[in-house]
Amino acid sequence: MHTKIESLKHQMLVDLKLAKSETEVKDVEVRYLGRSGVFNDILKGLKDLPDEQKRTIGKLANETKEELEADIVKRNAEIANEMLGSLADSEWMDVTVPGAVPTAGHRHPITHFMDDIEAIFAKMGFAVADGPEVELEHYNFNMLNIPEDHPARDMQDTFYLKDLKKHVLRTQTSPVQIRTMEKQDPPIRIVTMGKTFRKDSDATHSPMFHQLEGLMVGKGVSMANLKAVMAHAFQQIFEDPTIKTRFRVSFFPFVEPGMEVDCTCPICRGNGKLPDGVPCRLCKQCGWLEVAGAGMVHPQVLKNVGYDPEKVSGFAFGFGLDRMVMIKHHINHLRLFYENDLRFIQQF
Ligand code: PHE
Repeated sequence: MHTKIESLKHQMLVDLKLAKSETEVKDVEVRYLGRSGVFNDILKGLKDLPDEQKRTIGKLANETKEELEADIVKRNAEIANEMLGSLADSEWMDVTVPGAVPTAGHRHPITHFMDDIEAIFAKMGFAVADGPEVELEHYNFNMLNIPEDHPARDMQDTFYLKDLKKHVLRTQTSPVQIRTMEKQDPPIRIVTMGKTFRKDSDATHSPMFHQLEGLMVGKGVSMANLKAVMAHAFQQIFEDPTIKTRFRVSFFPFVEPGMEVDCTCPICRGNGKLPDGVPCRLCKQCGWLEVAGAGMVHPQVLKNVGYDPEKVSGFAFGFGLDRMVMIKHHINHLRLFYENDLRFIQQF
């Protein structure tokens, strides 16, 4: 009997050591010390023993049981400690290590450029106006003196909306001129920037591109004002005070006279070649770049919005923004701006 109790005790101590969690300890406890556990079996068997043995064995069994109960408490404490230890290992951190810098996004190069332009024109007193990208033919064409049979309305250039009759994706930002003049009386000095759409796609043209439009209307607004604004704007845009501008006669239905605006090439600074003698590819060695369309607001357009062309006059200009960002950053393909390749975008 003695040896049986001793060996049970050892067996249980071994099992206890192997128990790795409180539930496993509980299992061991139930198996050995529980109501129908092995120790109770021994105690139940006592009654069949002679008195002398009943006493000694009973005492031993009870003592061993108490001892083992204490071992269980001890093992549970050990397990709790081990768990804390492994937590300290896995949750360990060095508070002196410099933190990881979160990657922050930034403005797209074109958005960035538009913000710069806005600031340049704000300093000349121009407010910012806005208009819809899905535009009525009425504003995109009719009100701008572009008659029904004008080639610019051709299906080749304009995206017409199938279901929304008389709607187009605006082909230019000029309709914002009309929307602004309809809403307010002169004097007006606004710029507007945004997306425009044409069926066009190659290295320097994309079906979606960005335009800037400017409009100034008031008493005695003249071509001299237009020239001054253009000259200053391009010097600011290309961050070069030596940039010169020139005007060539051209045609746009909503201005009279109409002009193309050229500025000296910001890459070769009007020399046609780079300082090391390499021919300038951007201006094809002519030293000038065609950068904008402009002119004096056509009297018919002023009449269309209810202004009196005898009393007020104005100028308007418009140009593509994407090409200017390409020139500024020496980028040779327009599509790069719209592919959302982070390797490209993150350079700015
Ligand atoms: N809207 C013209 C274009 O898209 C540009 C322009 C604007 C010309 C204002 C003259 C005056 O080509």
